[in-house]
Formats: sequence, structure tokens, C-alpha cells
Amino acid sequence: MSETSHTIYTPPADLVATAHVSGFAAYEALCKEAEADYGAYWGRLARELISWKKPFTQTLDDSQAPFFKWFADGTLNVSYNCLDRNVERGLGNKTAIIFEADGGEVTKVSYSQLLAKVCQIANGLRSLGVKKGDRVVIYIAMSIDGVAAMQACARIGAIHSVVFGGFSAQSLRDRINDTGAVAVITADCQVRGGKQLPLKAIVDEALALGGCESIQNVLVVKRGGNAISMTEGRDKWMADVADAQPTTCEPEWVEAEHPLFLLYTSGSTGKPKGVQHSSGGYLLHAALTTKWTFDLKADDVFWCTADIGWVTGHSYITYGPLALGGTEIVFEGVPTYPDAGRFWKMIQDHKVSIFYTAPTAIRSLIKAAEANDAVHPKSYDLSSLRILGSVGEPINPAAWEWYHKHVGGGRCPIVDTFWQTETGGHMITPLPGATPLVPGSCTLPFPGITTAIVDETGNDVPNGQGGILVVKKPWPSMIRTIWGDNERFVKSYYPAELKGYYLAGDGAIRDEKTGYFTITGRIDDVLNVSGHRMGTMEIESALVSHTELVAEAAVVGRPDDTTGEAICAFVVLKRPRPTGDEAKAIAKILRDHVGKEIGPIAKPKDIRFGDNLPKTRSGKIMRRLLRSIAKGEAITQDTSTLENPAILDQLSENN
Ligand code: WTA
Repeated sequence: MSETSHTIYTPPADLVATAHVSGFAAYEALCKEAEADYGAYWGRLARELISWKKPFTQTLDDSQAPFFKWFADGTLNVSYNCLDRNVERGLGNKTAIIFEADGGEVTKVSYSQLLAKVCQIANGLRSLGVKKGDRVVIYIAMSIDGVAAMQACARIGAIHSVVFGGFSAQSLRDRINDTGAVAVITADCQVRGGKQLPLKAIVDEALALGGCESIQNVLVVKRGGNAISMTEGRDKWMADVADAQPTTCEPEWVEAEHPLFLLYTSGSTGKPKGVQHSSGGYLLHAALTTKWTFDLKADDVFWCTADIGWVTGHSYITYGPLALGGTEIVFEGVPTYPDAGRFWKMIQDHKVSIFYTAPTAIRSLIKAAEANDAVHPKSYDLSSLRILGSVGEPINPAAWEWYHKHVGGGRCPIVDTFWQTETGGHMITPLPGATPLVPGSCTLPFPGITTAIVDETGNDVPNGQGGILVVKKPWPSMIRTIWGDNERFVKSYYPAELKGYYLAGDGAIRDEKTGYFTITGRIDDVLNVSGHRMGTMEIESALVSHTELVAEAAVVGRPDDTTGEAICAFVVLKRPRPTGDEAKAIAKILRDHVGKEIGPIAKPKDIRFGDNLPKTRSGKIMRRLLRSIAKGEAITQDTSTLENPAILDQLSENN
């Protein structure tokens, strides 16, 4: 995972000439500006990129660290900044979103049309009594309606919490319960890969599980026209609530620190955490990184393939590109439908110039392209592309080189962007017209971001020596807290031994000569499967919640060529250890159970059964041994503290 190549790709001259951050010296100048006067640097950018209703007078308030406040006495509205402001500066007729449905139908909305739609939804929400500070859960697929629903919440100061459409009823219920939301916005179904998958029915199931009594309204967008049941008084069609509303809506001017959204993500322990983001600081970094990392210009067509259910979709679909008045693609479907050439065809059809996707997608498309010329990028005209991006997991040099050569035609820089749900936007990334690239490295910190590598006591480690990735100074788009759990926030991200630095949860190493960063992977019990974050504990809890079958379970990750990491579960049953067909049948039951408890993305790829798990004499499961077994490696670690060494051989056998 930590491998980097030694080839260096310098930025193309034409890009250097025109880029927002033009040349390496310009990058260094910005870093110096931030270092010389940190507050003044961020203050300057916040004034340049955001329209404030009431200007702020102080940039950073660190009096209650680590609960930092940015631009605290300023007021703004995020939806005003993304929509009205663009219409006011003459971009009303410019295309904001090009939506391509799963089946290929294209719908375009201009900034004026999107503004009108957002105002109608916002008015509709207000008519139902939704107000500033209320939480609204959004459970919907990739759509203009989804983006508009998020923007409508922002417009009235309601705090949205988008739940990825692949999560199960149980996961949705847990998130609704934790947020105490007053409303859910959903659709009758989602359409992916030619199939209709239910959404409203899952909302019904989630609400029926109990603990969601705060929900007063469920608003349903019509997508598939499939039959759904509507609960009188609670459920309404979005069209009935919004379509007759006025197309203007006075924004709610909120303080910069007012929460814009909560987004649940996995940690190393316990239930998913509701990462709370601010309005002002978050919007600044979403807009600034879109501008500098992607070099977004007026005539670009930007496509981020992430789902709005993840942070990448928040920052680089719903907020960043719109805040800059850009034109972007929103895609409902999957990369392999109707065939694995879908991405390349869409880039060709819409003349996409900036393309941002995940290494997993690249790796699976490489396999498909190598097997079939018709879906190889060379069979499409990709000459509109000028910048490529990667996000969510390390990109291995081989995939990087293929992406660069076959998708980017050897001429497009790849920005390998390292960041997290908690960071709100890019932290370590090349800037395409400034930073020489080394495949496998996310290169250098974004200007103003103070990432560093330290040891367990917070002391800097020299380049060439791996350590713990931290961020030394607070930054505008940082997580503000974990919703409802300040203590867990401090414990998770600001542990006492790290000198007040933000703990990212990743390991990293800097190149001895260049100081370039390479991320070596999570240092906690978080897995990254296809760029999706999952806690091993969550999956273990889901397995042991099958109380009839499961006595004990331990989950680890193992490297996987396509998905980066794969989930591997070791299970002790309440009945004798099964083998052969019986083992297969029980594994399927457990896989489906995890799918039901969390969602299909959390289903273990491998399930192995044992009479027991490798434990120390004090009863602690030795996960590092399980990791070796999962990888199929010979065990070289010290096993002298193991209570039951024979179990290793049993677990190493394939059931
Ligand atoms: C991993 C996604 C290597 C990392 C934006 C991080 C990466 C976690 C990269 C956050 C990258 C993200 N190179 N690893 N370019 N980008 N990661 O919260 O482990 O879903 O901590 O945010 O993904 O995942 P999250």
C-alpha cells in the first residue's frame, strides 16, 4: 500500500501558464503567506471566496481549543453563496448541473432553474415547520433533487444528514435516531444498473424499528413511479409540498459556526460518529480546494463520480463546484452499466474536462478494458480532459500510470487527494499547475494546511521514517465535534499525548529528499473497502447480533487487488465448526445478516469458522495474527503469549 514510484511528472507548461496556482513558486508563496500570518491568510481567502451578510472581524478563535471557531461573528448563507450569487453575477443561464440518469437520459438545469427549485423545496420545508437548527435526514440516490434538497436545508438553516442509499433500514434508523431529525427526504426508489431498488420502503422499515419518534414528515420524490405505501399525515409527495411554492425564498442568515451538516462515518470503536461541519469554514475550504486542486475555470465541465451520501459528494458536488459557478455532472448510475465503458462514454459525450474518481473504480475498469477493447478508454474521444483526480484510498502506482496514460492521454496531471470526512476538504494534494507528481504519493500539504508526521508522543519524526499523520494547526473546514458527544470528539481526534495536534488516524511517511507524503493506511481498526470507510467493530457487532448462530466474531482487512481492502471475518459459532457445504450455507446467512444490519457494502468477502479465536492469556483477540492468516501469510510473529496456538492452523485451513 505504501509503495511509490520514482518517476516524476512535471506539470504541463500550458497548464502552468494558466493555472490558478501557477508554478511551484506560487505554491510556495502561498505556504509562506499562511505561515507568516495564519489568520490573515485564511481571512483574506474567506473574504475573496465567500459573500458574507455580516463580515467577520476575527478569523480564528482558539480560546476553547480543540473546539475551534472560525469567522465566528460573520453571518452568511451557504445556498445564497452557491446559487443567488452566481445568478447575480450573470451566470443565471449557465448550466449548473448536467444530470445523466442510469438509462442515459440527460437533464440540464441552469443556475436560475436550480435556484428556483431550491427555493421551492426550502419554502415547502418551512411550510411544514422545519426551521433553523432542525435536522433533516436525506436518503436519496444521485439526482438533481438530492443536491437541491441539501441546498434547500442550507437555505433555511436546517442541518442535513445524508445517509448513503446503500445503507440498510437499521443503519438509517440509527442515524435518524442519533440526529433527532424532524423530517426525512427520500424517493420512491433508486435506479442503478438497470434495476429499481427501493428507498421509501426502507425508510418505512427504519421508522417502524422505533426510536425515530422525532420524525414528523417524510417527503418523497418520485423517481421510478413504483408502488409505495404512504402513511397518512406523515408522508407527502415532494411535488405536492414544493411545486406550488414561490420560486424565491429569503435565505436564513446564519452564524459562520452554524452547523451545515452532519455526516456519519466509522471510527475504530462503537457506533458511527456524526461528524459536524460548520457553514463558513466548511464552505471556504470546499470552494478553495475546488478552485486550486482542480483548477476549476468558467468553461470547465467537472465530474466527481462520488455519491452525495459520502463527504466527497458533499464537498465536490453539492458545495464546492456550485460555490464557484461551475458546470458539473451528476450521474445516477454505476460505472459498469450498460458496460464498463460508461465513464469514458460520458466524458466523451459531455466533454468533461476535470474527472475525479476513486482508485477502486479505476482498478475495476482496467480489468474490464484489458479484457475488451470496446470498453477501453482508447475507443473513446477523451481529448476534452485536462485534469484527473483520485480520492478515498491509496492509488497504487500501476493504476496511477494506467489512469495517466490511457484516460489522461499522458497529458493530464493526476491530483491524488488525501483527506477525510472530518477534514471537510483536501489536506494533502498536488496542485495541477504547480506540483511535480510521483505516482503513489499525494505529494504536499494544501497551502495553509499543517500536516506532519510524529511519533506516539507528538514529536516530529525525520523524513524517511514512518509515523502518525497529524495536523498541527486548526483549519477552517475541520470537524467541529461529534454530534452530541464532545467528549468522544476530544478523545478521538485530540488525544492528550499528541500536543494538541489533530489525529487523522492514518499512518504516513515522507520521502527523504522531497518531503512528499505517502499514506500507509489506517492505524486504527478502520477498514477501507472500495474507498468506503468501515469499522471492524461495527461489522463484528453486526455478526454477533445474529444471536442464534454466532458466539464470537473478529473482523480484519486483507489487501485486495480491486477493492483495496477486503473484509475478512473469523467466526465462532454456537454449534460445532461447520465445513464444506454447511460452512458455505452458514457464511451466506451471515453475509446477508450483515447486509441487513449495516448494508451490502459491509458484507464480509471471506468468512472463516473456528472452534475459537487466537487469544492472549488475558483473553484479548490477537488481530495481527488474524491479519496474517487472512492474507495467507506464514505466521512469523511471536505467538508465545497465545493461549491456544493450535487454533492458528485450524483458521489457516479453508473451511
Ligand atoms: C483514506 C474520504 C490514501 C484514508 C475523502 C482516510 C486516502 C480515509 C486518500 C478517509 C488518499 C482518503 N490516499 N488514503 N488520497 N483519501 N484516504 O472519511 O485512510 O470516507 O483516513 O473520506 O480514506 O475516508 P473518508
